[in-house]
Amino acid sequence: MENTQNRARPARFFPALALTAILAGCGGSSSSNQQQPPPPPSTDPDQRADAMLAQMTQADKLQMVMGGVTTNLTYGYSVPFGAGGWVPGNPNLGIPSLYLSDGSVGVSAGVGQATVLPSAIANAASWDLSEATKYGTVIGTELADYGMNVNLGGNVNLIGREPRDGRTFETKGEDPILAGKINAAHISAIQAEHIIGGIKHFSFNDQESGRTTANAVIDERGGRESDLLAFEIGVKDSNVQSVMCSYNLTNGVYDCENNHLLNDILKGDWAFPGFVMTDWWAVTDTVAGPNAGLDQEQPNRQYFSSLGAAVTSGSVPQSRLDNMVHRILRAMYQVGLFDYPQTIQPIPAEADAKIAQEIEETGAVLLENSNGQLPLNANTIQSIAVIGSHANTWVLTGGGSAQVDPVGGGITGPQPCPPCWATVTWAPSSPMQAIQALAPNAQVQYADGSDANAAANLAASSQAAIVFVNNWGSEGMDQPTLGLTDYVDTTPINQDALVSAVAAANPHTIVVIESDGPVLMPWLSQVSAVLEAWFPGQNGGPAIADLLFGVANPSGKLPITFPAADSQLPRPVTPQPPDGVTPFNVNYTEGYNVGYKWFDSQGLTPLFPFGFGLSYTTFTFTNASLANNLSSTSSPNFQVAFALTNTGTVAGSEVAEVYLGMPAALNEPPRRLVGWQKIPLQPGASQSITIEVDQNDSSHPLSYWDTGGNAWTLGAGTYTVYLGDQDNVATLTTVGTFTVAQ
Ligand code: BGC
Repeated sequence: MENTQNRARPARFFPALALTAILAGCGGSSSSNQQQPPPPPSTDPDQRADAMLAQMTQADKLQMVMGGVTTNLTYGYSVPFGAGGWVPGNPNLGIPSLYLSDGSVGVSAGVGQATVLPSAIANAASWDLSEATKYGTVIGTELADYGMNVNLGGNVNLIGREPRDGRTFETKGEDPILAGKINAAHISAIQAEHIIGGIKHFSFNDQESGRTTANAVIDERGGRESDLLAFEIGVKDSNVQSVMCSYNLTNGVYDCENNHLLNDILKGDWAFPGFVMTDWWAVTDTVAGPNAGLDQEQPNRQYFSSLGAAVTSGSVPQSRLDNMVHRILRAMYQVGLFDYPQTIQPIPAEADAKIAQEIEETGAVLLENSNGQLPLNANTIQSIAVIGSHANTWVLTGGGSAQVDPVGGGITGPQPCPPCWATVTWAPSSPMQAIQALAPNAQVQYADGSDANAAANLAASSQAAIVFVNNWGSEGMDQPTLGLTDYVDTTPINQDALVSAVAAANPHTIVVIESDGPVLMPWLSQVSAVLEAWFPGQNGGPAIADLLFGVANPSGKLPITFPAADSQLPRPVTPQPPDGVTPFNVNYTEGYNVGYKWFDSQGLTPLFPFGFGLSYTTFTFTNASLANNLSSTSSPNFQVAFALTNTGTVAGSEVAEVYLGMPAALNEPPRRLVGWQKIPLQPGASQSITIEVDQNDSSHPLSYWDTGGNAWTLGAGTYTVYLGDQDNVATLTTVGTFTVAQ
């Protein structure tokens, strides 16, 4: 009876002939002689998948485990490319087609114009799961409006290992718990729109350089407590139904053929019920993948076209093929693909642009604000110089498969990286216009920054100068350095020199950064304010203006450490492949010491620490106390109680961050983030807060990975609990300690 559910699907999914057959078949199934009402249909996705599987021929099954071929338009419809991938439906059985679309920061380009959200890392910088839910809802609803039903999203690679990674903007930062929780909120919201959510790239796809030949070498404990933990949280908290395995190898085995990653960990330890698909062409063999736990080849059938023969010969068991199909079907039932027909319709562009703006306003991070330079006073300021980064017209967006074609049309620039196929794309949102709109009486003038002297002259004759700088990022490239690189102009501008020249001309220089991730700031001491805007999204212009003028009070906190130099990174230079084919080792000897844990363990002082971010108001934490309930067998936990007060003069939000220092004998990082809460407060207001850290949470906050015992384990010894607003010993309060007995 599944096919009746699809009557309302557009003809594109079920062409006329097939639809007639479905309806006829369904109509014939009800018998007037029936004495007993039929049992209610099962709602259990596994039972429904099994019932469907029982009706399928071998050919039906094989069709589901690989991408469709565009030249074989069996059912007469074309693949909506831009979709990125497609699995033909089965009209006879009422199985809908799968239309796969990228969408890490909005529906991907090619499908059509869509709301370009601020970078996913900007959303992580909100430290706010309700903002993450909004983020996922925009992606989910717009995918549905375009008739897509599988999202190739959920990028949670811990690029804190390699912050020069060109895909940093797609990820959620360097901490496995923060990244895992933000990602899970995105995926849950997407699946709530009856889209199969995805999580990728499983696993250790932490650099783009040589991504198809890089062999990530990491020990089990280091992996479980870092990248794998971020995936585990996503899998468990969101009930995600698809996982994309990555191009690279891990410990010598391609990830899409890696029995330990796919069968032991993902499907075994984490009990992942959905299906594993390859990253695009990330398979090298017909047999190795399926036997290691791979369920679907994308985007076509390079190797799986021989899968039928492999099953006949017994090199892949029939039970494995059945399980592959079962997993895909159960994912479809789980999110409602059979039960909730999609209606293709225009996206709610205006409403979603407003959400994008809110997401930017909650995720931008104020890094510097000397002498209360910001917010600018719209009533008194008379002249403003806006300089650089095409801030008179556009805002920058991230490139690669996550590229969105912004509503209103993207503007493309030069192609900067010869080995990289992406093109710089701008969204039509003008920071300068938005600044002028908020300060209608001020003279707002623009210099494009190509001539540093001209920019400095304009700055000298203005009350304040706002310099926009950028560091673009894209799939297919890593930046050679965290230093600002101008990828966006045909004749590159030396942006560091530009900032210095402007700052020398005007002490009221504000820098707005539109970047993939962390950048170096050799000019930091010369400027009075710095706002990290990331790639600010569809309404980036108005969002940045609101933040600069205090219409919105910055409340973002860094989800990734900003190093002071490339030399501080575990690998000062990104490992490069010897050629395009020979696997090469990337030794993750830092293990679980990713990002701030690396900096803490090495005693390094970053430019800005993880968790850092300023506000236009001030907060104090008082009366911090610790209680624990660790003897509880059902719900062991500890609680940090405190009062938070907004001691300034404007409303704002503070993030209270709880870090845990593990017993010294366990040799863990000095501190790990285990809990947080974002709290909005009116000026003068105070609130009592309790943050509970639950040992049963999917993040295993109090445990270490015991490789010998193959389990998360609560170690004996003394634990120290810290509270504050950034990972910085100078500012963290030691709330107390508790001891776990041997
Ligand atoms: C990327 C994936 C993406 C896929 C389909 C690959 O190149 O690594 O993230 O989902 O293409 O576009």
